[in-house]
Amino acid sequence: MKIIVAGSGTIRAIANAERRTQNDRTPMPLNVSQHPLVADKLAILRDRRTEPKKFRELVRELTWLLGYEATADLATRPFPIETPLGPMTAACLEPRVGLIPILRAGLGMVDGMLELLPTAEVWHLGLYRDERTLKPVEYYNKLPDAATVQVCLVLDTMLATGGSAVATVDILKKWGAARIKQVSLIAAPEGVATLSRAHPDVDIHVAALDSHLNELGYIVPGLGDAGDRQFGTFAGPSSEPGGGSNDETAEVVRRLQRHLDDPAS
Ligand code: PRP
Ligand code: URA
Repeated sequence: MKIIVAGSGTIRAIANAERRTQNDRTPMPLNVSQHPLVADKLAILRDRRTEPKKFRELVRELTWLLGYEATADLATRPFPIETPLGPMTAACLEPRVGLIPILRAGLGMVDGMLELLPTAEVWHLGLYRDERTLKPVEYYNKLPDAATVQVCLVLDTMLATGGSAVATVDILKKWGAARIKQVSLIAAPEGVATLSRAHPDVDIHVAALDSHLNELGYIVPGLGDAGDRQFGTFAGPSSEPGGGSNDETAEVVRRLQRHLDDPAS
């Protein structure tokens, strides 16, 4: 497992994933932020007492910080300007960038990223996880026929089973996107493995890599349901990440976890 750590220091959270994937030779272009501000904000975001208003602010701020790291290798081109003291050749961003928020929870990541990339195009995709099968279901896609951007930043709060991320990248590659990066707040090892096996060319940027998925497909310790916590919609069954399981759902998670332990299975 190839893990690029932004900044210095060690990541205790990845040790578990490393151990579980020691037989897996697939490169995993995973970037786990080591920024102290990211850690501090993520702690408040995870806390069950954090209210939707504060939760939304933190999602925006964390996206800004992750966006700064995720865009660090974008190309620039020379840009002649004149300062009050004379001419110089400055640099400006070369590629056209598209933000791809995954509805609903990814919506909260748009504003933070637009602060960094004010000219980015925003192309929404609607996907939700079927609660029993954990498979992504597409319900909104208004992408034009051909890609209008060179770099796509997929904004999705949680990379859990990886099903939504793989489906999104499939769509974007068919669209003609040349370069795709996944930006998520929290990932599970199962989701990282699934995405990087299906699309090893996609960089993954996260604030944290957590321990595992529970039998309902929620990330542990995670933060619960990112959509419900942003939008205050706690009445539905999906807002009970610790609740009772379903055989079919639990089997999907077990299969992913077996595959993580033994990628040949
Ligand atoms: C959540 C989250 C991701 C997806 C990740 O969406 O926002 O899109 O789950 O899970 P996966 O990696 O297992 O596919 P959800 O289906 O809860 O929809 P919502 O954003 O509308 O709440
Ligand atoms: N979606 C969420 O909102 N939370 C999880 O832990 C997994 C998927």
